[in-house]
Amino acid sequence: MEKGKYRAVILLVIVGYFFITVFNILPPKTNWVSPKPKPVLPLRLISQQSITPLPNTKHFLVSAFMDQRVKGFDIRIIGIFRRDSIHPLHCIFFCAGFYSETTSASVLLHSDHFGFPFGATDVLCRIPENCDATHVTLLTQPSPVNVSDHLWLPIRNKKTPSKENRLNFTVCISNLFGDYNNVLQFAQTLEMYKLLGVNRVVIYNTSCGPELDRLLKFYSQEGFVEMVPWPIDKYLNPSRGWNFAEHGGDLHYFGQLTTLNECMYRSMERSRYVLLNDIDEIIMPYKHNNLNALMDSLQPRHSNVAEFLIENHIFPKKHFEPSGRFNFSRWNKVPGINILEHIYRESPDRKIYHPHKMIVQPRLVEQTSVHEVLKKFGLRYKVPMDVCRIVHVRVALQGSLKLEQLNEDKRLWDFQEKLIPNVDKALQRAGMLRVEERS
Ligand SMILES: *[C@@H]1O[C@H](CO)[C@@H](O)[C@H](O)[C@H]1NC(C)=O
Ligand SMILES: *[C@@H]1O[C@H](CO)[C@@H](O)[C@H](O)[C@H]1NC(C)=O
Ligand SMILES: *[C@@H]1O[C@H](CO)[C@@H](O)[C@H](O)[C@H]1NC(C)=O
Ligand SMILES: *[C@@H]1O[C@H](CO)[C@@H](O)[C@H](O)[C@H]1NC(C)=O
Repeated sequence: MEKGKYRAVILLVIVGYFFITVFNILPPKTNWVSPKPKPVLPLRLISQQSITPLPNTKHFLVSAFMDQRVKGFDIRIIGIFRRDSIHPLHCIFFCAGFYSETTSASVLLHSDHFGFPFGATDVLCRIPENCDATHVTLLTQPSPVNVSDHLWLPIRNKKTPSKENRLNFTVCISNLFGDYNNVLQFAQTLEMYKLLGVNRVVIYNTSCGPELDRLLKFYSQEGFVEMVPWPIDKYLNPSRGWNFAEHGGDLHYFGQLTTLNECMYRSMERSRYVLLNDIDEIIMPYKHNNLNALMDSLQPRHSNVAEFLIENHIFPKKHFEPSGRFNFSRWNKVPGINILEHIYRESPDRKIYHPHKMIVQPRLVEQTSVHEVLKKFGLRYKVPMDVCRIVHVRVALQGSLKLEQLNEDKRLWDFQEKLIPNVDKALQRAGMLRVEERS
């Protein structure tokens, strides 16, 4: 009996040793004094999420980008930090085979946070000598203890795409949330962007309504739309409003300030211009047929401009154009607003603050907010409203204005010939229109 047990134990040890050596199932040693060279970082240590909690802190990391525009730094990490809990941090890199020594991090809270406890934050890092960095993370101590519970962020923008692969225009749409299901306006707007020369629309998605989900899946398969999962509600209590005093919550508008910046950096190497606007807004040239022609005319006269400000103009959805020519029964069963029916534009009340949105040259911008750039390497230019303005169909801003006090503006109609069949096609693909109903 005793002998049998003894043998069994020996056998178990041998078999166990065999499995461990042959299948290499032990976790990698994290010996920080002389780390064992490894060609690639194990996949399980690389963050696969767009929001990565930073261990031992209240902060979250989003993305890391190569950025050598600020002297002394190589990397910019974009994150969401708890503003009252800022402590020294240290950058550590995975250098194509080994872990680097740490370098001290520079933590920059964005000045716009609208009073919320959490805010968009940049962390700047310097890569130590002789390190071909592929991944980065942050530590709360200069010596790398406890790094095994950290997830590493891949460093993006290390390569510039060739000229032929460059995009001209990328639109950054921050934060889809709730059961937002304004499908018709969404489809019309995306098709309008295409006609205007937009090459890519990046959308941060916390959640959306079922029909919109279907529509977006097709656009994203086709490559026009890039969906970024944005499960911010799993980590924080995001606010649906922009003002902490009024709306409460942990973070401004589902993290809009962070996603706008993330989108701009994501697009920095691959897109000439980035448009920072909401999905119900169309940055519309009024003297040119498309954005290419607009920027080709503006850019030579304003070569060092980082930020082109475009005035927002409201087209209240309660006023319909009288002829009913775009009131198609096939569109009536699609949820959402038909922007072609709204042609009456409010004149901005210039006595109060009048918000803009922006077309930026991303390589000249360091930090952005919603209505203006916060830090840039170039100038700002206000584009005259007769050259370009935002067509924004929504609830009236100045609700007391009568129809006679509004301006008739049929600029969208100039595109109807192509716009209508393209919208039909998109709705049909998403199963919201039958083929025989198309125009
Ligand atoms: C290391 O991690 C453990 C558990 O995660 C924690 O209890 C300990 O305080 C950490 N040590 C340091 C030095 O951060
Ligand atoms: C960008 O615009 C140029 C003309 O200004 C055009 O030749 C090129 O094809 C455009 N690129 C894309 C990806 O649309
Ligand atoms: C948006 O996010 C929700 C929640 O994760 C998901 O169910 C939905 O499929 C996503 N939609 C798209 C188009 O990515
Ligand atoms: C659009 O047409 C439908 C009938 O097809 C009608 O019920 C509706 O009131 C019309 N909408 C407007 C704004 O005229």
